[in-house]
Amino acid sequence: MRVLVTGGAGFLGSHLLRTLVARGHETVALDDLSTGRRTNVPPGVSLVIADVREQGAVGEAVASADLVLHFAAAVGTRVVAQDPTGTWSRNVLGTAAVLEACALRGRRVVLASSSEVYGPGREGPLQEEDPSLLRPSGRRDVYALSKAAGEAYAIALHRTRRLPVTAVRLFNVVGAGQSDRYGMVLPRFVAAAREGRPLPVFGDGTQRRCFLHVDDAVRAVLALAETPASAGRVVNIGTREEVAILDLAKIVLEEAGGGSVEYIPFARVYGEGFQDPQRRVPDVSLLASLTGLAPRRRVREAVRDLLAAVPAGNG
Ligand SMILES: NC(=O)c1ccc[n+]([C@@H]2O[C@H](COP(=O)([O-])OP(=O)(O)OC[C@H]3O[C@@H](n4cnc5c(N)ncnc54)[C@H](O)[C@@H]3O)[C@@H](O)[C@H]2O)c1
Repeated sequence: MRVLVTGGAGFLGSHLLRTLVARGHETVALDDLSTGRRTNVPPGVSLVIADVREQGAVGEAVASADLVLHFAAAVGTRVVAQDPTGTWSRNVLGTAAVLEACALRGRRVVLASSSEVYGPGREGPLQEEDPSLLRPSGRRDVYALSKAAGEAYAIALHRTRRLPVTAVRLFNVVGAGQSDRYGMVLPRFVAAAREGRPLPVFGDGTQRRCFLHVDDAVRAVLALAETPASAGRVVNIGTREEVAILDLAKIVLEEAGGGSVEYIPFARVYGEGFQDPQRRVPDVSLLASLTGLAPRRRVREAVRDLLAAVPAGNG
């Protein structure tokens, strides 16, 4: 099978490509290298350097593929804060271009969405049909709204033109090669441990999160791509394994061979009035019923992989 991965020079895209190559598939990455890196693209993969908003390049790449995994997007708190209008354009117009090219040619496509579409303050277990709490005028919500718009268009194209599309809501995927530019806690801890700095714990560290090892995320995406019953559905991909942020810091310190933590008040990082949900947990029963899959790897393995890998650039 020939598989096109948009965003193939990024974190998740490059892990998907590595597994696809290992499974013997022919693969193409399409990426504009805005935050991704050429060196992330595994050997044996053809790289098309193009923007997903370029209809000509996208149409050509989609035409030659049997399966499309659309993972290109503007991602990360810093990227989104610096360029909210570019984020909207990349994620909404880029996703529309990819989905329309797939609809025209009847190609199977998996669209990367995000747990962010549930909105702030939601603890869970979050189910796919739960209402979203996004505020269109909220400064922080432009990324989440762009992902929700992509989902809405995907489902509309499924209904009107039978586009075989599955939108996957990814919850905190972690693993080797992940940069700390996203504002994600684990890469930030690992970067601090590497540099011998105290690990910055925001708040009191009792808030709990669920981190999915990237290998489990890749298995879930590829299994859904092979499951016709997932077409036209939105599916959570995550783990129910919860860990308190302070315990995560302790795991990093154990694996790194020592060090300390530093508590930083939320107000200093995010400004007054910021509320961090105490928990954020996915309901993954739909994924399990569609694919029979459950996560196999623990968060400690992702910590080891991140510590062992070459540090990712900060884009
Ligand atoms: N990592 C996570 O935990 C997580 C969680 C939820 C959702 N996601 C989604 O998964 C996907 C991949 O995320 P990631 O963590 O690998 O991020 P990433 O930044 O590592 O990868 C995104 C890639 O897309 C490319 N790109 C951006 N705009 C482009 C454009 N206009 N045209 C072509 N290429 C473009 C970038 O160069 C980069 O290589 C994204 O759609 C993201 O929204 C990731």
